[in-house]
Amino acid sequence: MGSLRTQVGIIGAGPAGLMLGHLLHLNGIDSVIVENRSREYVIDRVRAGVLEQGTVDLLHAMGVAGNLQREGLRHDGLYISFQGQRHHINLTELTGGRAITVYGQNEVVKDLIDARVATSRPLYFEAEHVSVGALDSSSPVIRFRHGDVDHDLRCDVIAGCDGFHGVCRPSIPAGVLSMYERTYPFGWLGILAEAAPSSDELVYTLHERGFALFSMRSPKITRLYLQVPPDEPIEKWPDDAIWEEMRTRMTTRDGWTPTVGRIIQKGVTPMRSFVAAPMRYGRLFLAGDSAHIVPPTGAKGLNLAASDVLVLASALKAFYEGGRTERLDEYSDICLRRVWKAQRFSWWMTSTLHRAPEETAFDHQRQIADLDYLTSSRAAMTSLAEQYVGLPAEVSFASAGLPS
Ligand code: FAD
Ligand code: DHB
Repeated sequence: MGSLRTQVGIIGAGPAGLMLGHLLHLNGIDSVIVENRSREYVIDRVRAGVLEQGTVDLLHAMGVAGNLQREGLRHDGLYISFQGQRHHINLTELTGGRAITVYGQNEVVKDLIDARVATSRPLYFEAEHVSVGALDSSSPVIRFRHGDVDHDLRCDVIAGCDGFHGVCRPSIPAGVLSMYERTYPFGWLGILAEAAPSSDELVYTLHERGFALFSMRSPKITRLYLQVPPDEPIEKWPDDAIWEEMRTRMTTRDGWTPTVGRIIQKGVTPMRSFVAAPMRYGRLFLAGDSAHIVPPTGAKGLNLAASDVLVLASALKAFYEGGRTERLDEYSDICLRRVWKAQRFSWWMTSTLHRAPEETAFDHQRQIADLDYLTSSRAAMTSLAEQYVGLPAEVSFASAGLPS
């Protein structure tokens, strides 16, 4: 049995856990990261691709944006497509110069793992039997097995960054958390293809046959999504059928269509909205997907993970510098204000751009009117633009020890 001690024990080496570990490192605060998957698995998982302006700025301020700066694709706008026509929304002009950057989550995770390894601070991959205890004491514990050794890791604070299916949220006693949930009667079939993107910017499409999304990862790789039933077996979709459906839904009257190429990855993801509140129990703080899930249509999940850990790092800095706990006490309320706005936006993008099985002809006409209004009113476009590039964080970079 190994006895370990740290200031902040972090469970999960996804974007939330790795970013928090680095923010703490920059403030001289010790942490241990415990992850149950292998390094390769964590890096290869294909997920998000859109970084808000604030997330890009945060990664820069943390000194981990070298590759992002070289390889990230800055997008100043996006397209909304319906009834066979693409409509451009100029994000940068509508938000006073802000933009989004397309850069794969797996690249973000790879960069953060490299940064962690360079600090020589502990990061355990392939940890087994991870559990947490003594959460309502001043010395909570993370127990795990690594190799052949059982570890008892005593901490001042535990950060539950272990995603939606992790152990932290379920370890909070029954009755403490309020859960808010909505599931959607559809999922996304996503592919990566070796095809040069035929548009410089993302295209969100509502078609008679359902939602489709055109995105990318690099000048040679296209990333595309299709609305499908939530439990759709991927085997039902041979590559040719995927391309046919993508082209049917996305091709516009002016002849724009995605370029076809070899499909190198495909999978189906269900969609849900979920919030657990408060994002804290005793000395356990939940951050990122362990506390909330958004449907991917607004591209908010990874960005919320980043804003949560900025708030947590700033509160932990105050705690370690002056023994002040007020900032930790405010953590959940501060995060949840931003989380709920992102929930509302993601729900709105999802319900406006997808076709629900139970919808009526009235509902569909209302969707078209919503999109018609959106793409013809500067006020409506400005509202979408400021939410899509990211609403402001409530805490400053300086409060988390970063250059502004
Ligand atoms: P995770 O990335 O889930 O990381 C949690 C980590 O904890 C994992 O590494 C996991 O292995 C580990 N873990 C779990 N259980 C344990 C345990 N018991 N012990 C130890 N470790 C454990 N978001 C966006 O912002 N923009 C997008 O464009 C976007 N698109 C998406 C597209 C798809 C198809 C999907 C699926 C998601 C998308 N998201 C998007 C959401 C985004 O990927 C997540 O919100 C983000 O990964 C959350 O980060 P996290 O660190 O909180 O959780
Ligand atoms: C991507 C994913 C999203 O959920 C989204 O809304 C936009 C782009 C992507 O993976 O590129």
